[in-house]
Amino acid sequence: MTSTERSRNILITGGAGFIGSNFVHHWCKHYPSDRVVVLDALTYAGNLKSLADLDSHPNFRFVQGDICDRMLVSQLLAEEAIDTVAHFAAESHVDRSILGPDAFVLTNVVGTFTLLESFRYHWMERGKPTGDRFLHVSTDEVYGSLGANDPSFTETTPYTPNSPYSASKAGSDHLVRAYFHTYGMPTLMTNCSNNYGPYHFPEKLIPLMCINILMGKPLPVYGDGQNIRDWLYVEDHCSALDCVLRYSAPGETYNIGGNNEVKNIDLVHMLCGLMDELAPNLPVRPSKQLITFVKDRPGHDRRYAIDSTKLQMKLGWKPSVTVAEGLRHTVRWYLTNPDWWQPLLSEEYQAYYQTVYA
Ligand code: NAD
Ligand code: DAU
Repeated sequence: MTSTERSRNILITGGAGFIGSNFVHHWCKHYPSDRVVVLDALTYAGNLKSLADLDSHPNFRFVQGDICDRMLVSQLLAEEAIDTVAHFAAESHVDRSILGPDAFVLTNVVGTFTLLESFRYHWMERGKPTGDRFLHVSTDEVYGSLGANDPSFTETTPYTPNSPYSASKAGSDHLVRAYFHTYGMPTLMTNCSNNYGPYHFPEKLIPLMCINILMGKPLPVYGDGQNIRDWLYVEDHCSALDCVLRYSAPGETYNIGGNNEVKNIDLVHMLCGLMDELAPNLPVRPSKQLITFVKDRPGHDRRYAIDSTKLQMKLGWKPSVTVAEGLRHTVRWYLTNPDWWQPLLSEEYQAYYQTVYA
């Protein structure tokens, strides 16, 4: 164990969501003697099944609650003697933010503010320990949209958020930055590109395509399908966050990405190819026949690309999973875990689906 490694009492907000649950698994596996407390409101995107195997873990506790609940947050910080916060809780889906931005401002801005303010008092009451950390997990979408030949986003790219989702994340990022500069609170911030992998809610591009292929339903590609996203396997995101928590000085920001720019239409073709190869009984084969171009997302960002040189050079992090490997693993996961995703196709989800795709 090096001097930067120590046991922690970590509060993980949003730990029943996609990236949060992967991070909980990562942390419990690598630091089994750390106290791990998850605070999650269990919105439509939160799922206790994603944490089911941790029921018997002696150092794990799940608390259902809202990050906007100041009393609950302060009480948890104190009673669990929390020294590290990893903040994932958010409303995270761009299409839902277009339909109803209210929840995005509440959770992403007010919720982050509530956590920051509660942690500031907790940190001060304990004499401002230098090893405490507040890690805010953010997105590359705060930087806006790139043209085809623009350089990738760096940590100094000006913020230009275009959707209510990215604007609310930008607001939370600014608050985190201010808490370091004003109060010296030991914050850290990361801005990551598109994640994929196990436990990804069905509304997002990759799981949506996998599930629709399995069900023989149309594969809705927005606009001309030429939009570009920079994909990172979720476990590589978790290893980057681990690295930032352990090795970074407070007050720093890091971009996280795998240098994997792919056009949406090419990604959908890759998923169709993998499903045709790996799924035994597809209702429609080849599944690419299901591809359907639909009305574009309003304000749809054209291209994201992340430059993660700072993280790689300063902290020595490297992604370890290629897109080909990660997509194969992800497709296999959706094929072998229908018990996880089938119940999520609820009436509420069907109503949402109708509103976006009808
Ligand atoms: P997600 O939607 O899958 O999960 C969000 C979790 O937060 C859910 O478990 C939900 O129940 C919980 N939550 C929502 N509102 C809450 C509240 N008020 N109080 C407590 N819990 C609440 O999201 P995700 O894709 O796992 O994203 C996690 C974080 O990572 C977000 O902050 C997101 O902005 C950021 N991020 C996501 C991606 C991506 O590709 N998914 C990329 C970069 C950054
Ligand atoms: O870049 C990081 C962001 O990635 C995160 O901050 C967000 O939380 C996360 O949801 C994700 O945002 P995107 O909007 O990029 O992800 P989504 O999976 O919704 O869409 C990926 C691309 O696919 C995007 O260009 C829109 C397109 N798309 C999406 C859906 C759901 C389609 O063409 N059809 C679809 O049905």
